[in-house]
Amino acid sequence: MSGKRIVVLTGAGISAESGIKTFRDSGGLWEEYNIMDVATPEAWERNRELVLEFYNQRRKQLYEVAPNDAHCALVELEKEYDVHIITQNVDDLHEQAGSSQVMHLHGELKKVRSSVDETLVYDLDGWELKPGDKCEKGSPLRPHIVWFGEPVNMIPAAADLSSTADIYVIIGTSLNVYPAASLVNYVRPGTPVYLIDPDDLSVGHIPELHVIKEKAGTGTKKLVKELMGKGKP
Ligand code: OAD
Repeated sequence: MSGKRIVVLTGAGISAESGIKTFRDSGGLWEEYNIMDVATPEAWERNRELVLEFYNQRRKQLYEVAPNDAHCALVELEKEYDVHIITQNVDDLHEQAGSSQVMHLHGELKKVRSSVDETLVYDLDGWELKPGDKCEKGSPLRPHIVWFGEPVNMIPAAADLSSTADIYVIIGTSLNVYPAASLVNYVRPGTPVYLIDPDDLSVGHIPELHVIKEKAGTGTKKLVKELMGKGKP
C-alpha cells in the first residue's frame, strides 16, 4: 500500500451489471414502488408487512447475484493505493469482491436491527425477516436500512474521509440523495475527481473533473488501468 489515498463513492449503478436494479433510471425500483410506502419510518408504522416484503425481495435477490468487473477492478487498486469505499448501496458486493475498507452510508441488507435500540444489530440468517422476529429486548426486528427522514449517522466519518482523498472517484450514483450527494464538497481543492456513469450528470464546478461516460464495468476497468503504476511513491 502506498501513501496515496483513493476514496470511491458508489451508488446503485455500480451493481446494475450484477443484475440489481437502480432506483431512478427508467425501469428502476422507484418506478415500481412508492418510496413513502416502503422506505420511511411512517411506512414501517403503517404497513410492516409491505416493508418487510420489499426488503426480503431485495435480500433474496442479493443471494442470487455476484460482484461484477467494476467491484473487482476496485479491489485491484488496493495493490498500490489505500482505497476506501463509501457506498450508498445496501448490497455487500464490494465486500464479496474483496474490498477491505467499505463504509455503508445507508445500511446493509443482510443485517437487521432492533426497532427500539439501534445499537442492537444482527446478521440475518437467510433472506427472510418475518413479522414475528424480535430482538433480545422483545421488540420487532427491522431492516438495517437508513430510511428517508432518518439521520445518516455515517456522514461525518464519510466527510472526513472525503477530505483526505488524494484521488476521488464517483461511480453509478445520480447524486440525487442528500447528504450523500454533498460529500464531493469535502474533497480538497485541486484533487482529481473521476466520475463514471453512462448518463450526463451535473456535479457542479470541480476544476479537476474527469468524466468517464461509460457503464461501471468498462469505465472502472479503464480508470484502474490508468491509475495502476502511479500509486507508489
Ligand atoms: P440512482 O438510481 O438514483 O442512480 C443510479 C445511477 O447509476 C444513475 O446516475 C445512472 O445513470 C447510473 N447507472 C445506471 N446503470 C449504470 C451502469 N451500468 N454503470 C454505471 N452507472 C450506471 O441510485 P443512487 O444514486 O445510488 O437510498 O441512489 C441513492 C439512494 O437513493 C440509494 O442509496 C437509495 C435510494 O433511494 C435509500 O434507499 C435510503
